[in-house]
Amino acid sequence: MNDPELYERAHYFQVRDARLILQVYGQAMQETMDTDIVLDIGCGTGDVTRDIILPHCRQARYLVATDSSNSMIQFARNKSFHENICYEVFDISKNVYNFKSKWGSFSKIYSFYCLHWVKNLKTAVENISSLLITGGECLLAFVAQCPVFEMHEHLAQMDKWKSFMQDVHQYLPDTHRNTQPAFLFSSYLMDSGLEVVMCDLVSMSFTFPNTEVIKESLDAISPFTKHLPDDMKQDYTEDCLRFLQTHARTEVDNNDNEGIQFSYKLIVAHARKV
Ligand SMILES: C[S@@+](CC[C@H](N)C(=O)[O-])C[C@H]1O[C@@H](n2cnc3c(N)ncnc32)[C@H](O)[C@@H]1O
Repeated sequence: MNDPELYERAHYFQVRDARLILQVYGQAMQETMDTDIVLDIGCGTGDVTRDIILPHCRQARYLVATDSSNSMIQFARNKSFHENICYEVFDISKNVYNFKSKWGSFSKIYSFYCLHWVKNLKTAVENISSLLITGGECLLAFVAQCPVFEMHEHLAQMDKWKSFMQDVHQYLPDTHRNTQPAFLFSSYLMDSGLEVVMCDLVSMSFTFPNTEVIKESLDAISPFTKHLPDDMKQDYTEDCLRFLQTHARTEVDNNDNEGIQFSYKLIVAHARKV
């Protein structure tokens, strides 16, 4: 996930879901005021920040969009420029003292498709709470369970790939094998001093038009392909697809076009600092 150009080309379902989540769950948030300062955590290439989050809080004074990846932030500064957005490198799982000294606290925090990457989810939630003003709100959405996590576990046991995937557990969120992920995440929110307005496990699906698009999408988010020698990458992708096909179903749309559909579950949480 270090290639911003590739991520920007291949983040179809992430963009769709950000729009959907704001439409459905963003309505319950307080109206944005011109005194509000908004934070986006894990902004990636910045297009979701500029084109989806910013219009949702149009009245805000400005928006600080952050990502732990320097290359994502450089890309976002160029390609997703907006006069009301400041892009900053910042890791939500690390100490927030310097960041908070520079930017202060926020009245709204958004994070889409990021928290499943964070090594210590509980610390990240504590940090989110400490970055909110009293009465401030957050809307957080991340992948709780999906076939890609199972695929990582499966491939990490294969002799061919295990030496490249020794850190696989770092890329599996706490929610992946948990039987009550929404309950677990709610407890993280409450333990951090947040009042949970809602925290749901939401079932989603996405239909890819063909395997080429799935491959590109997988490459865009894979934490492992960068460790692989170039001459092994194609074989790795084939093994990924072989595993995923056992979790896919064929979908036919109204125009008789066939697609490959996957199901996954998101945690969507709206919480308030009390
Ligand atoms: C899948 S992208 C999502 C980008 C954007 N929010 C979207 O919805 O398209 C996830 C981003 O989270 C960032 N990320 C991962 N761990 C992070 C952390 N600990 N702190 C901040 N950002 C992080 C990654 O660098 C990546 O750019």
